[in-house]
Amino acid sequence: MNNSEFAENLLGVYHGEQLGEVLFSTMLQSAENDEQHFILASLMQLETEGKAVMRPVLARLNMSLADNSDAIAEGATVARSMASMSWTDKFAAMASAVRDVYLPKYEELQGLMSADEDAAAHKLAVFMGEHERVVLAVCENVAAGKSEPTAPLSTFLHFPLAAAR
Ligand SMILES: [Fe+2]
Repeated sequence: MNNSEFAENLLGVYHGEQLGEVLFSTMLQSAENDEQHFILASLMQLETEGKAVMRPVLARLNMSLADNSDAIAEGATVARSMASMSWTDKFAAMASAVRDVYLPKYEELQGLMSADEDAAAHKLAVFMGEHERVVLAVCENVAAGKSEPTAPLSTFLHFPLAAAR
């Protein structure tokens, strides 16, 4: 068990949540209809909750809770880089980034901190793996044009959004 590796990866995951929140917030500004607005706002909510759920453990481990300016800038850059893509292509691109880059990082966390060593930190690590699998599922659903693509979020969010009337 290597605590410094866990701490470093945990901070990377926290920055990933910040990146995701800015990404979906930026994309939200160009939503073309109520459905797109609901999907993007729900994903932004998931990332906001991701940040919030991490803070008690980060604070206890004396880690910075501040937003990371590089992660914030990167979120906006990614949104801009996808601006000319179609709605489904954007989600196919995000699904592949989550599958190839983010999910492995998030799932690695739980192996770096046992429940015996720090039960709350281990529980958080397991939760963040689930969180990222939900992100992947929603992105894949939207990319595939499935109906009710945000269904995996409905039981996962603590503060779910209601669809626009
Ligand atoms: Fe996330």
